[in-house]
Amino acid sequence: MSKTYMNEKFPHFLHGGDYNPDQWVDYPGMIDEDMRLMKLAECNEMTVGIFAWSMIEPREGVFEFDYMDKVLDKIYENGGRVILATPSAARPHWLGDKYPEVFRVDRDGVREHFNSRHNHCYSSPVYREKVRIINTKLAKRYGKHPAVIGWHVSNEYSGECFCPLCVANFREYLRRKFHNDIRELNHAYWSYFWSHTFDSFEQIEPPTPYTDQSHMGLTCDWRRFVTEMTVDFMRAEIAPLKEICPELPVTTNMLSNYVGLDYRRFKGVIDFASCDSYPAWHSGDQQDTAVHSAFGYDIIRGLTLKPFILMENTTSVVNWRDYNKIMRPGMETLSPFQAVAHGSDSILYFQFRKGRGGQEKFHGAIVDHVGTEKTRVFETVKRKGELLKKVDEICGTAVRSEVAVVYDWESRWMLDASHGFSKNTKKYIETARAYYSVFWKRGINCDVIGPHDDLSPYKIVVAPMQYVADAETIDNFARFVERGGTLYATYTLGMVDENDLCHLGGFPGGKLRDVFGIWNEEIDTLYPEDSNFCEFKGAKHKLVDYCELIHAEGAEVLAVYGEDFYRGMPVVTSNVYGAGRAYYQAARDCGTLSDAVISEIVKERGVRSATGTVEPLGYGVSAHVREDGEDRYVFVENYSDVPATVPLGRKMTDLISGKETDVCKLDAYGLGIFKYSEE
Ligand code: GLA
Ligand code: ZN
Repeated sequence: MSKTYMNEKFPHFLHGGDYNPDQWVDYPGMIDEDMRLMKLAECNEMTVGIFAWSMIEPREGVFEFDYMDKVLDKIYENGGRVILATPSAARPHWLGDKYPEVFRVDRDGVREHFNSRHNHCYSSPVYREKVRIINTKLAKRYGKHPAVIGWHVSNEYSGECFCPLCVANFREYLRRKFHNDIRELNHAYWSYFWSHTFDSFEQIEPPTPYTDQSHMGLTCDWRRFVTEMTVDFMRAEIAPLKEICPELPVTTNMLSNYVGLDYRRFKGVIDFASCDSYPAWHSGDQQDTAVHSAFGYDIIRGLTLKPFILMENTTSVVNWRDYNKIMRPGMETLSPFQAVAHGSDSILYFQFRKGRGGQEKFHGAIVDHVGTEKTRVFETVKRKGELLKKVDEICGTAVRSEVAVVYDWESRWMLDASHGFSKNTKKYIETARAYYSVFWKRGINCDVIGPHDDLSPYKIVVAPMQYVADAETIDNFARFVERGGTLYATYTLGMVDENDLCHLGGFPGGKLRDVFGIWNEEIDTLYPEDSNFCEFKGAKHKLVDYCELIHAEGAEVLAVYGEDFYRGMPVVTSNVYGAGRAYYQAARDCGTLSDAVISEIVKERGVRSATGTVEPLGYGVSAHVREDGEDRYVFVENYSDVPATVPLGRKMTDLISGKETDVCKLDAYGLGIFKYSEE
């Protein structure tokens, strides 16, 4: 296994972040001062130009590159590298004034005015053309600049537009999907219901509070379309970049837990994955926060299964939460190194220097308004830079996992849209994270993947609430078990196909009924005050929210309901299918039942953890491994506010102190990084 770098020409951890000197043109000498501070802060990267359109093209067709030239040259002269952004996330005033059609129309039918950012229509031919022109200029001017190591396309693609052009494109999308046959669409959307049968594609409107929202298939297709439109826009942005400098890798910064876009459709369009991450530390349950961001990083890594880039995080504080608490000492290092433990080859911040005005002037940055290096935060950034240098050999190493959790945007969308179950307790992503936490607590690397992804690398795959089962998912799951894999699925498995049509012939749909050896006859949705229970291996486990009435059809029953009229019916089953085994959990537990059953399976399948033990490491503590085939790098992370001692299970080299040890002692919010060689 060799190392994989974002750019072979700069095989090092990146440390730096968003750099917006275009806001400081009225302050002479600022770039030189920034260069001095960049070096002092142990930074080697600047992400430039994200919102610099009005500086580069101050009037239509008039391009001014002097300032940008100076910025890029100076960064390079001072040993830095640049990830260069295309500026499409916000546009100059002249553009919006002359071509108001580039602004989005909201679901109420109102066209936006200039407004803030991230609000352009992805269909707009004018916007696409203006973006093509400026991206071409940037690629021609800077594609071969020695500082530039990659492209940052736009910024946090998100949102949707209901303008007439987007609606027309949606209809086109549906024409393609349904072979221009309205009967096919009517069947897929079950639109005979309430006499909503469509006579033509022209009658179709996107789902809004004022239009037809009775077809869940249509709602889901709208979401698919929004993803496709975004990807299409992104492809259009990337085309001139690739044409002019094919060797420069391209990414866009994603928001891992964002519901609106199915990021798996970005695969193959971007060369490397990257994300922005702002965990809400120090409020609520700290372990939940850690699991939340860990899951997000694994979603992002799961897109390419290669190292990714942490494109933005904060040095200390954000400015957009209800309460903006400063990270406590230790956490400012642990927080971004969590990304590194999960496969990030960078720690980049938003942003280098705090703006003097505007909405983000109180957001954390490397350089504060005081303007010097003599701040607490600057010191912490410098220390992180030094630490990254110290462990630079880890850059490019892989994260390999023997287990995976399936996270499926389409199941999330369709469950959310569905009328049934309960409005308040579907909790798709919370459930996915709860299963993921079983591995997290034990220091077991886990991939987060889609239902169509290759499952063959894994011993165990958990598919929580996999409500949507299209033909490909059914085959993929069945093949995995048949060939020896262990699949663990839960309530709501395989109820509908890709159009939200219920599977006929008993749930879970198609072959899955055989794979799991069960039939799910009914689902009971409990009121918040209700619960049931079951016993597993002598312990009692509380069941809430959803209890399915399933029948074992060949599966072995491992636990049964303890109460209600379905007392004695199965809660957990296990079925041999081909060379593998398929487990089914028919009711939602509060974390204890799934933990007990899955931890048994982990032992049975001999799954490896970072520290040798598969017992939980203690509240708020986790561990992760990166490797290159010869060396293994173990990250031990303590998110709790009390010290932790973690036995490492063998002798390792502490990369921070340089000493050999077999135990890791961490302060509150402490981080340990260790190395050993594979025998
Ligand atoms: C996002 C954006 C940045 C900045 C930060 C602030 O991630 O990409 O431009 O607004 O949020 O947290
Ligand atoms: Zn539009």
